[in-house]
Amino acid sequence: MKTYKLAAMPGDGIGPEIIAEGRKVLDAVSDKNNFKIDWVEYDNGADKYLKTRELITEDTLKEIKKNCKAIYLGALGDPRVKPGILEKGILLKTRFYYDEYVNLRPIKLLEGVWCPLKDKTPEDINFDVVRENTEDFYVGIGNRVKIGNSKQELDIVRSLYQVKFGLDIETQGSEVAYQIGVISKKGAKRVIEYAFELAKRKNKTKVTSVDKANVLDHIYSLWRETVEEVAKKYPKIQYEFNFVDAVTMWFVKNPEWFQVVVAPNMFGDIITDLGAMIQGGLGLAPGGNINPNGISMFEPIHGSAPKYKGMNVANPLATIWAGAMMLEEVGEKKSSEQIVRAIEAILKEGKVKTKDLGGTAKTSEMGDAVLKKLGD
Ligand code: IPM
Ligand code: MN
Repeated sequence: MKTYKLAAMPGDGIGPEIIAEGRKVLDAVSDKNNFKIDWVEYDNGADKYLKTRELITEDTLKEIKKNCKAIYLGALGDPRVKPGILEKGILLKTRFYYDEYVNLRPIKLLEGVWCPLKDKTPEDINFDVVRENTEDFYVGIGNRVKIGNSKQELDIVRSLYQVKFGLDIETQGSEVAYQIGVISKKGAKRVIEYAFELAKRKNKTKVTSVDKANVLDHIYSLWRETVEEVAKKYPKIQYEFNFVDAVTMWFVKNPEWFQVVVAPNMFGDIITDLGAMIQGGLGLAPGGNINPNGISMFEPIHGSAPKYKGMNVANPLATIWAGAMMLEEVGEKKSSEQIVRAIEAILKEGKVKTKDLGGTAKTSEMGDAVLKKLGD
């Protein structure tokens, strides 16, 4: 029987509870469709870090690369650990290590889900955000500098390119902090191409690019130029530019305008939380960190919600949906569609609702409900 080895990394907070539901559903769908998932468990997260100081090691990353096709991640973040340590040390580390340059986040309002936008229906809210996932202000280089003179060497090492910044800094009057955002031509091109290909595959007619080229002109004019270049290869697909501040307004006022949105990392991060809200909340928003030729990682876009940890109240649907995206990526499209249809059926019926959807169903009851609908 066809077997896929997949890494399960439940992580922190509600992570273990929602990943358990996701695995339950994925295992059931694999039974129905004659393949098998062989889960390899990884306990990286706050507990491990507090005990051993380990975030995620090179050895673990190599082992996953050698053995697994994809990673199923719950969530990271814990109040006992300073913000950023786990997020940067595990989540971003993994995204960068496997060069998962696409962060694909579908924004789809499903029937039966309450939408905070008046008069908007599932027909109006149905688009994909393709967020660049390795560059921009996320490259993690910068520093704080006290008054006086100093030198700083900053490096970015990627498989596509390496950059070294050697800075001579002379500060007067105040301590300062700076952070460098970097966009590479090759890095922009590959993710913009992914967005146009996605539009083509889904028979969409427009790609919207998001930036702030009116102010952050160096990095985002490189981005814009690249959109224009890539667009030439897709004469049937129109493209447009939106500034990020304006796009937040249009997501609320006219979400029906959007089909495929492509954005640099930081703006993509920000607008997808807004996207999650207009599709009914973070409990329903999945995402995939994709390297089309490598190891990809799938996760709900929400965080670890530590205050709900162990209470069996979190909505597992975003995670289950992320699991469906993972199956599509490994080549099990039929199973993926079955899961999404089951989620749609549950929400439409409206009988089983978790706390975030205004109900009282437990995390595990929602998982069971999806499971029962599979193959209907
Ligand atoms: C997300 C998260 C992460 C990000 C954080 C936790 C580093 O907000 O996946 O959107 O900014 O990418
Ligand atoms: Mn985010």
